[in-house]
Order: sequence, then C-alpha cells, then structure tokens
Amino acid sequence: MAAPSASPAQGRSMGRSPDRSQLGGSEGFQTAPALQEPHSAKLEPEEPMPATQHTPAAEKTPACPSAGGSKDMMAEGLPPCVAQEAVLKRSSPLPESTPQVRGYDFNQGVDYHALLQSFYTTGFQATHFGQAVREVNAMIENKLEPVSKENENDINLNCYQREISGCTIFLGYTSNMISSGIRESIRYLVQHNMVDVLVTTAGGIEEDFIKCMAPTYLGDFSLKGKDLRPNGINRTGNLLVPNNNYCQFEDWLMPILDQMLYEQNTQGIKWTPSKMIARLGKEINNPDSIYYWAQKNNIPVFSPALTDGSLGDMMYFHSYRNPGLVLDIVEDIRRINNQAVFAKKSGMIILGGGLIKHHIANANMMRNGADFAVYINTAHEYDGSDAGARPDEAVSWGKIRMDAKPVKVHADASLVFPLLVAETFAQRINDFTCKKEQD
Ligand SMILES: NC(=O)c1ccc[n+]([C@@H]2O[C@H](COP(=O)([O-])OP(=O)(O)OC[C@H]3O[C@@H](n4cnc5c(N)ncnc54)[C@H](O)[C@@H]3O)[C@@H](O)[C@H]2O)c1
Repeated sequence: MAAPSASPAQGRSMGRSPDRSQLGGSEGFQTAPALQEPHSAKLEPEEPMPATQHTPAAEKTPACPSAGGSKDMMAEGLPPCVAQEAVLKRSSPLPESTPQVRGYDFNQGVDYHALLQSFYTTGFQATHFGQAVREVNAMIENKLEPVSKENENDINLNCYQREISGCTIFLGYTSNMISSGIRESIRYLVQHNMVDVLVTTAGGIEEDFIKCMAPTYLGDFSLKGKDLRPNGINRTGNLLVPNNNYCQFEDWLMPILDQMLYEQNTQGIKWTPSKMIARLGKEINNPDSIYYWAQKNNIPVFSPALTDGSLGDMMYFHSYRNPGLVLDIVEDIRRINNQAVFAKKSGMIILGGGLIKHHIANANMMRNGADFAVYINTAHEYDGSDAGARPDEAVSWGKIRMDAKPVKVHADASLVFPLLVAETFAQRINDFTCKKEQD
C-alpha cells in the first residue's frame, strides 16, 4: 500500500509551527529531526507495546501491521490502524523554552498592564502585539544607552544637527492616523523627543495644522456622500471634517507661502518638504501640534508627496496668484537616507502602508537594513503590494537585517498603537526626561 507522505496530524503540526522570530525567545522552536521524518511512511510491523493502566492511549494499541494484518485487526473488532497512526501520532518534545498559551484571568481584577502583558501568551495577533512591545522596548533600550566618547561628536546629517543616539527610531504613519486620535499618541512621542525621524503623507501634515484651527468630528461610516456633499462636510471613515476647516487653513497658509517665496527669491533659500514642514510647525506655535514639537526638538519630518492633499491644492492656487515657489525632494532624499546611514542602530515603527512604509524601509536599505522593525497594518501580501508585504520580504531586499526579529501586527492601528505606546515609551517617560536634563 502506498504510504501517504505525511499524516494529516503531522501536516497541521508542521504547517502551524511558529518560526524562531515569531516565538521571540532566544532559543526559538527548531524542527526536531523526528518531525522531519513522516511517521506514516513507516507502515512496518512493530513490536506491540505492553499495555498497562498508566500507558497513554496511543501506546495501548498494537503497532500498525501490514495492510493484510490491518484487515485482520478490523475483523477482531480493532479500529483501522492507519486511522490510529494518523490520529494518535506521538509528538516530539518541543524545546523547553517554548511559551505556553495562557490568557488573562479576570479573577485578578481589571489590571490593564497585566492584561496587555498577557497578550504575549494569548496567541494570534495578541501575541504579535506582545512581540511588538518587546521589539519597541529593545529600540528604547538601545536609544537610551549612552553614546561612547568617540561617537560623541557624530551628528545625523540633517539640517537641524540632531545629536546621534544609540538607536535612531523612524516613525511612519498614514494620513488618516492624524485625522484620528492617533495624532495625540504621536504628538506625545514627538513632544518628549522619543523618536528621531517622522515620515507621513500630505494629509498627515495638514490635518495636524487644521486641527489647531477647527475640530474634526465623529460621524459614521454609513453616512452618505450625496447627503454630506451639499452640506460641505467631508468624510474620512467615521470621521467628519467640515469644509470650512480647509478654508481656514487656506487663510493661514497663503501668507506663509508668500513669505517662503519671498525668502527663496531674496535670500536664495532652497525649500524642501521637510524644511517647509519645520517652518509651518514654527508658524503654528501651538503645543497641540506634532510639528510644533518636531521643529522644537529638531526632529525632521519627511513627506516626499507633500502635494497630494490640501497642501497641494493650496500650492496649486498659489502658483497662479504668486508663481515661482519650488520644493526640492532631492535634498530631502539625501537627508532621510543619511539618517539611516549614520545611525548607530536603527528601528522602524510603521503604522499603515504605502509611501510611508516604503520610504522608511528604503532609507534603511542604505545601511543594509534596520536592526528593529514593527509594522502595524491591515494590508495582506497576496496581491504583491508593498503595503501588505511582511517584514521577511524587506529582509530579502536588505531593508531589515537578517538577524533582526521584526514583527507585523495585523490590526487597525487606531486600536493597537495607543496600547503599544502605553506598554513601551510611556513606561520610560522618566528616562527620557532625565536624558533631556543631562543633555
Ligand atoms: N486623512 C486622510 O487620510 C488624507 C487626507 C488628505 C490626503 N490624503 C492623501 O491620500 C493619499 C493616500 O493616503 P496614505 O498614503 O496616507 O495612506 P492610505 O490611506 O492609502 O493607506 C495605505 C495603507 O495603509 C494601511 N492602513 C491605513 N489605515 C490603517 C489603519 N488604521 N490601521 C492599519 N493599517 C492601515 C492600509 O493597508 C492601507 O491600504 C496620500 O497621498 C495622502 O496625502 C489622505
């Protein structure tokens, strides 16, 4: 009888085995030799094991004889041995360090920190969240390590002369994060100088400034465009932004664009998206703003597609009213790439996909890969998109180091990111404050 190449039980076991990086332990799971050898391929008679009261079920049944013998066993009222072999297949031992699955016990009371810590052993995306906490904490540990004397004078090559730290943390986020309340989590990180480089798309810049002028409201995903449009209400998911907000933004921005053009023409200033964002952060002069804190803490903000949003609409109108303003993206690509090239170590935290994800990963290719990486996004890889690509794809391009333990949390960042900040950066607020005082 032809032997199947692997029993169903074994197929499940091997297909679901977590890889080393998924387990996150120093001594991850390695496929045991016995698992590599399909047991069901050996359908040879074996010595029957003596059955005792304490013998496990699998050991009570006689070993599977030949096909003919199997028929004999059925005649004797025993179950088919092929089925026994498949169902009661014996396990090879897992490494001792393999974590056991266990969730939170609410008999402990409602302890949110303990609850979030229990995610690591809960399984599925909760485990990925737990791994992301460890990965971000590793970035922070490296970041807070004092830089040795010989590196003291090193600088990141950005226009702000930001001092180098033990780990340069890149934070990328899509525009909708700033439309949502994730803006406040990001502002906290930037305010306390906890991250080093920001990357976002145009909406991620303008929505921050617009919120300093007028609020975004909660709505509903089901609100109809044909009802909202005549009322001048714009919808982003279940958020609503009145069109008047953009009119206020225009009133604020136009004189700044005039002034930037004037400085370009009279002082030879070459504007880039990052320089423009720093200028707008200074002009807004409002501590609610991410970019107010970014320019105050010399954190560069890169947004190579800065024209793809309301900012672009304003620059379009401005190009008729007062033409000539130029933004140079080449100078900015040199700056962001050098942030990675001259980093001691490098970590990437990326919320969402698309431009922001790739722009950070590509910069890290210039140093042969980031040392740490956490992705939080909802995209999948089956369509070949960069947005959905798991960290392992970036390893193949040299964008993440081969020995890194990157994590992708498949989730809506609006749920997960504040929890991640709560379990990482916010736990170390005193260390960051001390560092600032020492500096
Ligand atoms: N508020 C806005 O969203 C807004 C405003 C103005 C302009 N725009 C422009 O729209 C263009 C496209 O936006 P984008 O590139 O910022 O990203 P996007 O909205 O196109 O999202 C890119 C991918 O990120 C992932 N993602 C998005 N939201 C997520 C979430 N909450 N949780 C997990 N994963 C998530 C998804 O996989 C998505 O396909 C940009 O040029 C931007 O400037 C957006």
